[in-house]
Amino acid sequence: MEDKTINSINKKTNQPQSEADQPVLEIWGHQPLTGEINVSGAKNSALAILAGTLLCSDHCRLTNLPNLVDIGRMCQILSALGLKLNRHDDILDIDATHISTSEAPYKIVSRLRASFFVLGPLLARLGVAKVPLPGGCAIGSRPIEIHIKGLQALGADVFIEHGVVHATVKGSKGRLKGAKIYLDYPSVGATETILMAATLAEGETIIENAACEPEVVDLANFCNSMGAKVKGAGTNTIIISGVDRLHSTTHDIIPDRIEAGTFLVAGAITRSPISVFPVIPEHLTPVIAKLREIGCEIIVEDSRRLKIIPKELRGVDIETLPYPGFPTDMQAQFTALLTICDGNSIVTETVFENRLHHVAELQRMGANIKVKGHNAIIRGVHQLSAAPITGSDLRASAAMILAGLAADGKTIVQGLEHLDRGYENIEEKLRGLGAKIRRLDSLTREANLVGV
Ligand code: UD1
Repeated sequence: MEDKTINSINKKTNQPQSEADQPVLEIWGHQPLTGEINVSGAKNSALAILAGTLLCSDHCRLTNLPNLVDIGRMCQILSALGLKLNRHDDILDIDATHISTSEAPYKIVSRLRASFFVLGPLLARLGVAKVPLPGGCAIGSRPIEIHIKGLQALGADVFIEHGVVHATVKGSKGRLKGAKIYLDYPSVGATETILMAATLAEGETIIENAACEPEVVDLANFCNSMGAKVKGAGTNTIIISGVDRLHSTTHDIIPDRIEAGTFLVAGAITRSPISVFPVIPEHLTPVIAKLREIGCEIIVEDSRRLKIIPKELRGVDIETLPYPGFPTDMQAQFTALLTICDGNSIVTETVFENRLHHVAELQRMGANIKVKGHNAIIRGVHQLSAAPITGSDLRASAAMILAGLAADGKTIVQGLEHLDRGYENIEEKLRGLGAKIRRLDSLTREANLVGV
């Protein structure tokens, strides 16, 4: 889930920041990269699993938790709900014994779409939940009716009033009841919401046309490690037999396939052989297939390491789809790559209605792209040229960095509030490969330093 909130407040002074006062990345392109880059824990797994800790009336430990703004916000929500959290490095200990309120705070929910995930677990555990509507975002309107219909099928009364979703379990027992639920679309969030709620429901729940994303599987594995009975995650039919209570656990978050894919594209776009580690190669099947079709050799070096060796790069067509189709979260990065591949490409975005904002920025760098409806029609150019550019959402920001790595000259990337939501230390990691990239506190300060 992407979030359009612009953090225009200076954290130190608490004063509003003008655009020129916000941090930017400066990238000197055309540097060859080499070496291995480390992949963090999966943001989207971690967000759902953090919400899932509300199901456990005990202690949980999460390891390989990425250090990201979005994760920090989800932790704030859990604290506001009464959980006790203690973080050291990538380990988070959560005491979920006591939940003090069933109401999620609007102030944080409005800044993190994924905070809506707390609805299902709160309802399952307490029999009542109030969660503000998460709102739309830069890539589309982001409806939630599939989540709501699923919870209603499990026996919840759900209504929306003054922008808040109110959910209560019907009947005196206060317990959801298993049901057969067909999803109109294999929504990742709806699958996760229903899966979590069903773990503590009475009887069996069957989710048909469920999302098959690896993050759904990670969430199911986490729930099972607490004693839940979830079968079939990773297929389009998930069967959950409800249990009375979930117990304490330790769970290791899977590596982030989107971060890994972004780094593979960094190798391709700079024509550099690099390795990414740790990864689960099967999670990257559609990404690997497209990189090979573009003309990159991808070597599965061992069960957790991939190496990319770019050769002659040519255009390909890409259509985003639910997993195991090509991920929408890799669309912007591949669009950047295809701008400098030989020949023509068509990128079709089918998952989100409004996810081609990065095209205009790439055009400013000399890319030859036309947008027609949900399609970006790309004619490869020899070279991108550096320009000041802005990332309009999380993955668009990553695409801007990739374009900057390939461009001739100095690129300035703005919009880092999006980037920091989902990429841990990205500039440090890329510098480790030899990229010339640094974060500047603000453009004005930099201008003062060089006397402009
Ligand atoms: C998750 C990911 C996000 C990724 C997306 C698709 C997290 C935190 N975020 O978002 O990074 O881009 O999956 O892989 O895991 N839809 C409806 N009604 C609903 C729910 C969804 O129409 O009730 C539509 C959405 O508007 C969208 C499509 O279904 O067009 C896919 O959305 P969904 O799979 O729900 O994505 P998220 O869970 O929001």
